[in-house]
Amino acid sequence: MRRGPIFALLGIGTVAGGIAAAVAIFLPWLPPEASTERGRIDVVFWFTVSICILIFAIVVAVLLYSVLRFRAAPDDDSDGPPIHGHTGLEIVWTLIPTVLVTSIGIVSAIVLARDDALGKNVLEVNVTAQQFVWSFEYPNDAKVTTGTLRLPVHRSVLLHLHSKDVIHSFWVPEFGQKEDTVPGIETTLHITPNRLGTYPVICTELCGLGHSVMRTEAIVMTQAAFDRWLKSQTKATTSPNPSVSGAAVFKNNPCGSCHTLKAAGATGTVGPDLDKLPQYAQTAGKPLADFIRESIQDPNAYVQKPYPKNVMPTFNLPKQQLDALVQYLIQSSKG
Ligand code: CUA
Repeated sequence: MRRGPIFALLGIGTVAGGIAAAVAIFLPWLPPEASTERGRIDVVFWFTVSICILIFAIVVAVLLYSVLRFRAAPDDDSDGPPIHGHTGLEIVWTLIPTVLVTSIGIVSAIVLARDDALGKNVLEVNVTAQQFVWSFEYPNDAKVTTGTLRLPVHRSVLLHLHSKDVIHSFWVPEFGQKEDTVPGIETTLHITPNRLGTYPVICTELCGLGHSVMRTEAIVMTQAAFDRWLKSQTKATTSPNPSVSGAAVFKNNPCGSCHTLKAAGATGTVGPDLDKLPQYAQTAGKPLADFIRESIQDPNAYVQKPYPKNVMPTFNLPKQQLDALVQYLIQSSKG
């Protein structure tokens, strides 16, 4: 082969590869990195992208060079010379992709194994998905339950994921991983947050009408701030005074996003106004306490008109928290 074509191929390949690389590197395709696992996943991503850019450059170089160099004259209708296979070429174009794909597989396997390896002093959190809310339970003595995921930075966190109804999928883009929640089985996800901040928690499996609004937040805080928060929540939810414990349970669960309750400063209008609970209980013909308890545990037993059926999710609160919430709602709604 003469030198000319090699230089031409190299030149075109370098320009094409350079443009592709610039597009990959200088456009912000990925959200900021907020977990150690995400950092490793990005290594796989960039490894694969580099291979793609290299192949793209080679293909563009050969293609453009051939188009320019071997262009047929306008009046040339003759066929090209026949080719009867080329064993050497076939071996090469089988072997190179095999090596590349296998190497991506090996790098991925190493990253997956390292991402699954738990660190020391693991924080375990139970995650429950249901149409269309997330709830997070910290399995300490108080079983603090919240609608917002709070995590300490630089600590191994193991999420135990459950679903109450259909398949949902837990995704925080900045953490770089997705995991389905599947009814009847427990799935797990390991996260080591490495950046303070607030990130979206998104359901990424079509799960029904409210799928697009099945979102909440993950807040990564310092270990000290997290400890303070968990301690204050534990103290509040276990307080013998229902106006403290009930208020904490109300606030930690997503009640206020759908219901109005003046005492809690909640102004939701999706569901019935909880300041009118005594009136609703009368209409339903049930004692107030029983009515409230039933409405939380079995929301479809009685549905206040004109609100639609099958909208309110059921919440399996620990008994102490349920009692506190019922007492709190009685107190608040009586004014
Ligand atoms: Cu839950 Cu989509």
